[in-house]
Amino acid sequence: MQTTNSHSDALVFFGATGDLAYKKIFPSLQAMVKRGNLDMPVIGVAKAGWNIEQFRARARDSVEKHGAFDRAAFDKLCRLLHYVDGDYKDPATFQAIRKELGARSRPAYYLAIPPALFALVVEELGKLCCVRDARVILEKPFGTDWASARKLNEVLLATFPESSIFRIDHYLGKKPVRNMVFFRFANSFLEPFWNRNYVESVQITMAEDFGVQGRGAFYDQTGTIRDVVQNHLFQVLANLAMEPPVRTDSESIRDEKVKVLKAIKPLTESDVVRGQFRGYKSEKGVAPKSRTETYVALQLGVDSWRWQGVPFYIRAGKCLPVTSTEVLVRLRLPPEIYSRNTLARNHIRFRINPEVAIAMGVMALAPGEDLRTQVVEMVASRQPCPEEMDAYEKVLGDAITGDATLFARQDYVEEAWRIVDTVLKANTPVYEYDPGTWGPEETAQRIAPAEGWNNPVLAAEPEVRTELSAVGT
Ligand code: BG6
Repeated sequence: MQTTNSHSDALVFFGATGDLAYKKIFPSLQAMVKRGNLDMPVIGVAKAGWNIEQFRARARDSVEKHGAFDRAAFDKLCRLLHYVDGDYKDPATFQAIRKELGARSRPAYYLAIPPALFALVVEELGKLCCVRDARVILEKPFGTDWASARKLNEVLLATFPESSIFRIDHYLGKKPVRNMVFFRFANSFLEPFWNRNYVESVQITMAEDFGVQGRGAFYDQTGTIRDVVQNHLFQVLANLAMEPPVRTDSESIRDEKVKVLKAIKPLTESDVVRGQFRGYKSEKGVAPKSRTETYVALQLGVDSWRWQGVPFYIRAGKCLPVTSTEVLVRLRLPPEIYSRNTLARNHIRFRINPEVAIAMGVMALAPGEDLRTQVVEMVASRQPCPEEMDAYEKVLGDAITGDATLFARQDYVEEAWRIVDTVLKANTPVYEYDPGTWGPEETAQRIAPAEGWNNPVLAAEPEVRTELSAVGT
């Protein structure tokens, strides 16, 4: 499978009047223009009864609310914008798109629409005779379970080759997520202990201190496992557990990630605790008797030479005490010379948001004359840099230039669904928890690392801080 690296010559985005376009796509497009990375027609498609002026007004509103409005870049974006109003079921809509494309023959079709419409739009695109050198970019969720993801892949592959399909997982566009892989393979000190001989457990927490934010109808059909575990958090897991790629091209990297998922057995009912925050059932769009989870804690094993026997824990939820995504890798205790009661396990901590941090937790003697010990962290941390690309800008830009590294490949998405498929259908209990707490109590009893969960703490002052400073050129 090869990735073609030619530049698309137009961007056609479906769902142009929708929420995602409003919150993420227009600000990313403006940022791309500002950076000099977008200079081709951008054709928005939706059924809203709008004209191009209304569409531009929406774009302006979007960048003002969700981006940093930049007069010059926005004016240029406006000149690139086209708009096609029409129903996705109507072939005339696709004829109108064809007309707007003019002589352009390498469009990128971005489906920022509900997954239920993917097949319909892809089939209509197939009839458009403008797909040979085209790309298709799809938003998550990619399917709702293993069978639907396979079906969707079949539909897509009937029209586009795999090398032209870009399945977005915006988490992969985040710099700290990409940095996990770089940090692992650009430093030699980590490798000797990054395995089952030294690592005792791995935990990944994605906590959000807000609820479903008006997305009740979507969320109630989705739940935490589908919304963020099967995609975002499995990608984080793959970055932690993958073997070094033999080359840095997209397929060599994606091959290694798929191998991680292949080594994971399907989750069973006892591997999962699901929770729902109190008050969720009164959210707009949520069924009064909903059993959808807004929280999940789960454990799994990566049955590979490197990781066999090491438990991996994943926890994600809405209405938790903080918003932060963090990984904690705990190492085994050393042989006993000092009393075990005084020792804590060493750890490596990756914080993905709100700030970026990589920390090493070690034991040291506490200040003073007695033999008290303390855990100190050596921390390299920084705030996100304002010039950095937002995750959406990064992945959209990569799709347009044909770099598939940060996209989920067919085999990857199918493996990811395979792992969660059984528990998605198992209807396991859903325990209530109070907003602002760390989820249901059942988690601590049933799914917890030996030394317990590490709850991300915001703005904690580490006892030892090593500031990142560049050395050399
Ligand atoms: C989205 C989920 O994919 O990711 C949301 O649908 C979640 O529910 C979001 O809040 C988190 O991503 P980020 O980039 O805002 O941390």
